[in-house]
Amino acid sequence: MNSASIPASVTVIGLGNMGVALADAFLKGGHPTTVWNRSADKANGLVEKGAVLAGSVREAIAASNLVVVCLSTYKVMQEQLAPLENELSGRVIVNLTTGTPEDARKTAKWVSEHGGQYLDGAIMAIPQMIGLPETLIFYGGSKALFEAYEPTLKLLGGNAAYLGEDYGVPLIYDLSLLTMMYGAWYGSMHAHALLSTANITGTEFLPYATNWVNHLIAPLLTDPVAARARDEGNFTTDVSNLNTNKLGLEHIIHASQEQGITVEWLMPLLTLATQKVAEGYGADSFDRVIEAIRKPLVK
Ligand SMILES: NC(=O)c1ccc[n+]([C@@H]2O[C@H](COP(=O)([O-])OP(=O)(O)OC[C@H]3O[C@@H](n4cnc5c(N)ncnc54)[C@H](OP(=O)(O)O)[C@@H]3O)[C@@H](O)[C@H]2O)c1
Repeated sequence: MNSASIPASVTVIGLGNMGVALADAFLKGGHPTTVWNRSADKANGLVEKGAVLAGSVREAIAASNLVVVCLSTYKVMQEQLAPLENELSGRVIVNLTTGTPEDARKTAKWVSEHGGQYLDGAIMAIPQMIGLPETLIFYGGSKALFEAYEPTLKLLGGNAAYLGEDYGVPLIYDLSLLTMMYGAWYGSMHAHALLSTANITGTEFLPYATNWVNHLIAPLLTDPVAARARDEGNFTTDVSNLNTNKLGLEHIIHASQEQGITVEWLMPLLTLATQKVAEGYGADSFDRVIEAIRKPLVK
């Protein structure tokens, strides 16, 4: 094998559940891989597979051009890298830590001020999905930089989606998808609490929940016509209007209260629906509540 065919070395900083999976995927892809973690013992399995455990973050950064960071928060990342700002020159930092879009933009600026290059990424997967061809990871930053490292980054998730130059956009997509997940997740937990007041088990409910999600909820949330109508601010409906959905919310709240179930999470939604009905939009689709959620536009 000549040197041109040897994959370039990579570094992974942070070996939590996700970082271990990332480093493992690079090793499987044949990349010499250096790792660092605060708790060094988490590197044991990777070292057995051929990874090099760096003795310090400084050593880890020095080991490779491409440095992938996956720590719990941006604050932790900053604490670890700030003392090493002089080591960033010539390095490509790909940060897969979850935070806010502003965290990502500030970090990109900071890396660039110290001579490094930066991509921000957001992993839309669990560790067990790392390395699969369908696994989705969003990236933002320089297109040329993304393209240069795309084959390597695709080892982590084959569906590597480049979203443009704005470093904050991957996290906007990430947090928007997570918002959908937590809304559905919490709704599911509320449903199970309500079911249990009549001694109905989750297993008994499952066939109906599956039918409901597959035939109504999933098509509703992924309907391209509805997405376009929302983009255009077109809230007409012949399906189910805001008045009907406001009543639906009130029924859930009253039934839950009768059973002694916590309804606090539903009250803000009812407030938004009530506000839009009061403004005269009762015959419009439930999507009208977006206007009440959005930050008011500065006139
Ligand atoms: N797990 C998932 O399914 C998933 C999915 C998508 C995105 N993510 C994102 O990936 C990132 C890592 O998640 P994870 O699941 O790997 O979390 P995790 O298992 O809790 O690991 C956290 C990592 O951060 C390190 N860390 C925490 N506080 C630190 C400190 N004060 N100083 C130095 N290191 C510190 C930990 O080091 P120690 O081992 O020494 O504690 C560990 O490496 C998060 O931003 C998460 O949102 C995770």
